[in-house]
Order: sequence, then C-alpha cells, then structure tokens
Amino acid sequence: MPNFSFTDLFLVCGCTIVVAFLLSIIVDWGLEFFCAEHDKPFFSYGYANHNGPHTWRNYYPECDGKNQSPINLMTKKALVVNDSDDLLWFNYHIPPSCIKIFNDGQTVLVRAQWPEALWPTIICGPLNEQYGFHTILFRWGPEDEEGSEHTVDNRSYAMELQMVHVKKGFTTPLSAIRSGAKDGLVIVSFLFKLMPVDNPLLDRVVYNLWRITSPGSNVTIPAFPLNWFFEPFCSNYYTYNGSLTHPPCSESVLWIIQPEALAISSRQLAEFRKLMSHDGRMTSNSRPVQKNSQDVYFYSSN
Ligand SMILES: *[C@@H]1O[C@H](CO)[C@@H](O)[C@H](O)[C@H]1NC(C)=O
Ligand SMILES: *[C@@H]1O[C@H](CO)[C@@H](O)[C@H](O)[C@H]1NC(C)=O
Ligand SMILES: *[C@@H]1O[C@H](CO)[C@@H](O)[C@H](O)[C@H]1NC(C)=O
Ligand SMILES: *[C@@H]1O[C@H](CO)[C@@H](O)[C@H](O)[C@H]1NC(C)=O
Repeated sequence: MPNFSFTDLFLVCGCTIVVAFLLSIIVDWGLEFFCAEHDKPFFSYGYANHNGPHTWRNYYPECDGKNQSPINLMTKKALVVNDSDDLLWFNYHIPPSCIKIFNDGQTVLVRAQWPEALWPTIICGPLNEQYGFHTILFRWGPEDEEGSEHTVDNRSYAMELQMVHVKKGFTTPLSAIRSGAKDGLVIVSFLFKLMPVDNPLLDRVVYNLWRITSPGSNVTIPAFPLNWFFEPFCSNYYTYNGSLTHPPCSESVLWIIQPEALAISSRQLAEFRKLMSHDGRMTSNSRPVQKNSQDVYFYSSN
C-alpha cells in the first residue's frame, strides 16, 4: 500500500476539488447557455402552425395594432374622392440594367437596378411626396381560389402582387419604418384572377422559380420593364392607411389597390407553391384579413 503523507493527500484532494469546481462551472455555464436558448427561442416568422400569423403578436406588439393590413375592401362603404389628382408613374417602362429574384423563406422578391435618374417612381393621387420603387413580392394560398391578402366584398383572389415603394429621402423600407413616418411606404397591390391559359408576361419570373427553390437563394433573370406586369393606372383605385402584412407589422403603409384583376393560370400558381420555406413547402403566405375599421377611399376619375 503506497504511503501517502498528509501533504500528499491534501494535494491530491485539493486538486480534485479544484478540478471538480472548474468542471462544475463549465457544466453550469453550458447548461445556462443551453437553457437560455430554450427560454427565449429564436423566432422566425412564417405561415406554419408554430410561427404563423396568429403567433406574431407575441413577438411583435405592432401586429396587434388598430390599423393592420390586409383588410376586406367594402366597395359600397368606400368614401369616393371625385375628380382626384391623377396618380402618376415615371420610368416603369424603362428596362432595368439587372433583375434578381429571391426566395427569402417567406415569399418571392423581385428587385432591380436602374441609373438614379431613371429609377421608377410614383407621385400625386393620394401621395404628398415622391415614392421610389423598391421590391415586388407575391402572396398566394394553398388553393387556386384563395391567395390574395386583400379581399374585395369578401371575395378572395388567386394571388396578390405587392409593389413596395419607399418615400423620397429613404433608401430601404426599414429606414423609412424606423423614422416613424406614418407614410414611409406605399404599397401598390394588384390582384390576380384565375384564367385557363398562362399569362405570358409572368413567365420570366415563373420559368425561373425552380432556381430559387431553397430559402435564401437568389438568381439573376433576363431584365424586363416593370410595366410588363401591369398597366399603370391614374384613377379608379382604393386607398387606405394600413400596415405591413408581415412582421414587424409597422403601421406606416399607404395602400393603393387596383381592383381590376390581372390574369394567372393554375399551372403558374402551382410553380410558386413548389418553393420551400424553412418549414417545408410554401403553400401559403397570406395573412388573413384584419378586423379593424380604417376609412377606405375610392379615387374616382369623375
Ligand atoms: C362624388 O360623385 C358621386 C357621383 O357622381 C356623388 O354621389 C358623391 O356625392 C360625390 N362625392 C363628393 C364628396 O363630392
Ligand atoms: C362580407 O362578410 C361580412 C361578414 O361575414 C358580411 O357582414 C357582409 O355582408 C359581407 N359583404 C358582402 C358585400 O358580401
Ligand atoms: C445571392 O446568392 C449568392 C449565391 O448564389 C450569394 O453569394 C449572395 O450573397 C446572394 N445575394 C443576396 C443579396 O442574398
Ligand atoms: C392617411 O393618414 C394621413 C395622416 O397620417 C392622412 O393625411 C391621409 O388622408 C390618410 N389617407 C387615407 C387614404 O386614409
């Protein structure tokens, strides 16, 4: 039997105690780190059960606000503005130098580049300022019959194309929102109705969707002027003060909604539903209509 002196024993035990103490600190720290992560899970909004629209208000209080979007437009209740100033569109016919499409995990984004002087802008109508084009995004649903976020007299449309514009003086939607301006953003919306044949003007985007199937991907596509998608309109549209339809749901958006629907086919819609989010296939990315009662205006030409 080895002959341990008291000092030896003390050294061995002392070291063991120190090592055990250090180990316990590391384990504690590890547990704390691990548990902290579980106490405050990272929230990434989406449209699945665990992160869908009914959960957003828990993480983004503004989603519970009084001027939320989308809404059901009740055409009979809209306040008619007669002989309104025409809404004016500049440079939407100019082909950009480059167009990119993105899968951001929630939708398809279309972004483009022009020389500064040729940047597409809108002005007049209900706008007090000039607004520059920033992004187009799409909203769709699990079935061909429902996909739009806004409804008109309770009618849902197959898809909604939303053109986000940023107030002059700001470069991104986020900077416009952070400024606190109630009119930092203007979103012009187009609804789509189902047609038996493809809409060829959507094909540059639709044909390239398979290249951005995975969330976070992007690709450059052949450029085209934005007015391929739609006919610029001067009057006969709805407008109201609302919010972003996704977190952070900021109430700094003037919506302009063109009630004349564009066309899309069932086959084209199906291509959008093949995209992947972090929660599986993007079968739907529409927030349901919100029950608040903003004034809705109809800007009429006569
Ligand atoms: C706008 O015109 C319509 C029909 O011409 C009329 O009923 C309405 O009272 C007018 N509204 C205003 C605010 O002048
Ligand atoms: C829309 O639905 C609401 C609630 O279900 C109903 O009160 C209203 O009459 C409907 N409006 C139209 C134009 O169908
Ligand atoms: C676009 O995708 C490429 C990889 O293909 C990536 O390097 C780049 O960061 C992406 N751009 C943006 C703005 O997300
Ligand atoms: C939106 O709100 C602003 C004030 O913040 C107001 O001047 C404007 O008339 C409102 N527009 C509509 C369409 O309600």
